[in-house]
Amino acid sequence: MANYNISIIKGDGIGPEIVDEAIKVLNVVGKKFDINFSYTEYLMGGCAIDATGNPLPQETVDGVLASDACLFGAIGGQKWDNLPRELRPESGLLRFRKEMGVFANLRPAMVYDELVDASSLKPSVIQGVDIMVVRELIGGIYFGEPKGKDEFKGWNTMVYTVPEIERIAHIAFKLALKRGKKVCSIDKANVLDVSQLWRDTVIRIGAQYPDVELTHMYVDNAAMQLIANPRQFDVMLTGNIFGDILSDEASMLSGSIGLLPSASTGLKTAVYEPIHGSAPDIAGMGIANPIATISSASMMLRYSFGEEKAADAIDNAIKKAMKDGFRTKDLAAFGAIEVVNTSKMGDIIALNI
Ligand SMILES: NC(=O)c1ccc[n+]([C@@H]2O[C@H](COP(=O)([O-])OP(=O)(O)OC[C@H]3O[C@@H](n4cnc5c(N)ncnc54)[C@H](O)[C@@H]3O)[C@@H](O)[C@H]2O)c1
Repeated sequence: MANYNISIIKGDGIGPEIVDEAIKVLNVVGKKFDINFSYTEYLMGGCAIDATGNPLPQETVDGVLASDACLFGAIGGQKWDNLPRELRPESGLLRFRKEMGVFANLRPAMVYDELVDASSLKPSVIQGVDIMVVRELIGGIYFGEPKGKDEFKGWNTMVYTVPEIERIAHIAFKLALKRGKKVCSIDKANVLDVSQLWRDTVIRIGAQYPDVELTHMYVDNAAMQLIANPRQFDVMLTGNIFGDILSDEASMLSGSIGLLPSASTGLKTAVYEPIHGSAPDIAGMGIANPIATISSASMMLRYSFGEEKAADAIDNAIKKAMKDGFRTKDLAAFGAIEVVNTSKMGDIIALNI
C-alpha cells in the first residue's frame, strides 16, 4: 500500500472549513485506491500570529519540508491588517514560498460545462476552455535587485537567469506533453532585454520537445487573446509578474473563484492550494465552496504522487456533483437543483467517488 505524509496548513477564515472537506475526500479516495494518507497540521498566517507571534513559525517550515506534499487552505484577515508589513500573514506566505523553493506555479483554468453561464463571457467563447498557466514564482521583478524608493523615485529590477528560465520551461513542456501538446510562451521581448533572454532560452529548451508546438505572444496581446479566444491556449508559460496578472484573468473565465486549484512545485516540496483567499466575509457560515481545495488535493495526487487514477476519480466526482445540480451558495444562480453547504458538498463528492 502506498503511504504519503501530507502536511496540512488550514490557515484563517474559511481555510479550516474547506481543507476539512478535501481531507474527507482524500480519505475516501485513499480507501478506494489502497493509498494511505497521514496528516500533520501546522500553523501559518493569522492563527500562527495569535499562537506564536510569528506568521510562519520555524516548526511549520521544517514540518512541511519533511512532508511529501502540503495541502494549504488560505491565510489572512482584517484582524491582522494593521500589523507592520513584515509581521502580517501575507509576508509569511511570500517567505513560505521562498523557503519551500517552489519556483513553478501551476494554475489550471477550466470551465465546467454545467457552469458556462457563470462566466461573464459568452458560452460560445468559453465552452471547452482548458488552460494551464505555468508561472515562474520566485524570480523576476518581485525579487530582483536592486529595488527601493526614495522621495523622488522608486525602482524594481526584472532579472532572470538562464537556469531559472530553463527549469520553468521544462515544467511547461513536460506538462504540455500530457495535455494538448502546445506551449505559448508569454513575454515582452519587443521591449525588455530580459524577455529576449526568456524567449531565446525557451526556444532552445523547446527544441528538446519536438512533439510540443511552441508559440510566443507578447503579454499585452495575451491579455486580449484570453478574453477574445481563450480556447486557443493549452499551456501558457510566463514569468512571475505576467503570470500573476494573466492567471487571475484566466481564472475569471470559469466564473467562480471557489472552483480553481493551484500547485506550487519546485526544488524541495510542493504546495497545493485554492487560488482564492481566506474569504473572511463568509468564514464560519458553512457556505464556502470547497471545490477549489478538493481539486487542489486532486492535483497533489496527480503531480506529487503520480496517482493518476485517484486524481481522475476526484475530478470526475466533482464533475458529477456539478452535473447533478448541486451548488454551493456562490453558484446558486447557475443551474442549481439543490443548494448545499460546504460540508454537504464534500459529502456528495466523497459519495460520488
Ligand atoms: N493564498 C492565500 O492564502 C491568499 C490569497 C489571496 C488573498 N488572501 C487573503 O485573504 C483575505 C481576503 O482577501 P480577499 O477578500 O481579497 O479575497 P478572497 O479570495 O478571500 O475573497 C474574495 C471574494 O470571493 C469570495 N470567495 C473566496 N473564496 C470563496 C469560496 N471558496 N467560496 C465562496 N466564495 C468565496 C469571498 O467571500 C469574497 O467575497 C485577505 O487577508 C488576503 O490577504 C490570502
